Amino acid sequence: MNNGNDKNTDLKSIYEDVMLPNYAPADFIPDRAQGSRVWDKNNKEYIDLGGGIAVNSLGHSNPMLIKALNDQANKLWHTSNYISNEPAISLAKKLTELTFAEKVYFSNSGSEANEAAIKMARKFHHDRGENRDEIIAFENSFHGRSILNISLGGSEIHKQGFEPLLSGIKHAKYNDIKSVENLISNKTAAVIIEPVQGEAGVYQADKNFLKSLRDLCDATGTLLIMDEVQSGVGRMGYLYGYMKYEIDPDILTSAKGLGGGIPIGATLTKNDIASSLSTGTHGSTFGGNPMACAVSNKIIEIVSDTKFLIEVQKKEELMMNLLLEINSETKTFSGLRSSGLWICCDIKNADAFDLLDKCYENGLILVTAGNKALRFAPALNISEDDIKQGLENLTKALNQL
Ligand SMILES: Cc1ncc(COP(=O)(O)O)c(C=O)c1O
Repeated sequence: MNNGNDKNTDLKSIYEDVMLPNYAPADFIPDRAQGSRVWDKNNKEYIDLGGGIAVNSLGHSNPMLIKALNDQANKLWHTSNYISNEPAISLAKKLTELTFAEKVYFSNSGSEANEAAIKMARKFHHDRGENRDEIIAFENSFHGRSILNISLGGSEIHKQGFEPLLSGIKHAKYNDIKSVENLISNKTAAVIIEPVQGEAGVYQADKNFLKSLRDLCDATGTLLIMDEVQSGVGRMGYLYGYMKYEIDPDILTSAKGLGGGIPIGATLTKNDIASSLSTGTHGSTFGGNPMACAVSNKIIEIVSDTKFLIEVQKKEELMMNLLLEINSETKTFSGLRSSGLWICCDIKNADAFDLLDKCYENGLILVTAGNKALRFAPALNISEDDIKQGLENLTKALNQL
């Protein structure tokens, strides 16, 4: 019962009155945050090891990002895409210098970045007079919630009731090159793959599988799209996950950590593919917004530094060692996987959402992966102290199960 001082409960009850029921958010409402610490409306402190689902790449209220945002906010907010702007040009320049790509298209989210990627792939073949419009995606994949992206994704629950879905999409088995060979044909425009399946529970692609997939795409004239919306911008301890696999995609999509909390999406590709999205063929009102691009410029400048990425790999090791210790005491996890500061624990005997509530009670923010796993995707610059404190809070939650 609300005693009149519970600001979280007051706001939550308004939320239930006025918001669609498609989310089931936590009972607390965050009020302010700094680095990897968050305080709710009642001033309770939480350690944030969820990072807004791999979005808050440089933590909350990062002074360098606030400065980049404020400086830009005082200069220019929006131009429309009939007129360009310097932050967008400079961000595209950085991304092309640092990756396989030669051209960049900006949007506002991962779903939109994928939309541009698929349109580009189909148009590329169309412009060559080829009748190739099919897409191969993977079982258990996640690409977003638009009709295109639920059609690409592997989750039945995301699709039910939203049919008809987009036709021409086939699903292969992840890490199984034979299953891709069985589906690929002269009708296939592209294969879209996450280098690590994040929503499914941080499952990595095998190096040999991705190399064979690259070879298969080359041999059949199929474009390889890597969805790096969750894996990109330092999450895996590499600027982009594909760099770990020593192959280049033809098209790459990026979002989430690219904006550190400001909405931005990007689709990266090579010149010969980019030319298929000729003037007037695709667009977005807010894509390439100067304020989002100003923040993202700063993030890419910081995260692309090799020393920063090595630190991410060291923090992965620290977190994994601590989680292994916790599991040897509590025996709650049946599996533990990591790929950079991106970790998943399969839970033996509890529902992930019940455990998440216990974490919240004990001052820890995390995310789930399905209802049987916990996912960690903290700020890439999280301190060792915050990692340790967060995992102490996790231990308290596990001991209350
Ligand atoms: C791999 C991947 N692709 C695409 C998306 C969709 O991104 P957004 O929610 O920004 O549309 C997500 C979101 O979780 C994702 O993890």
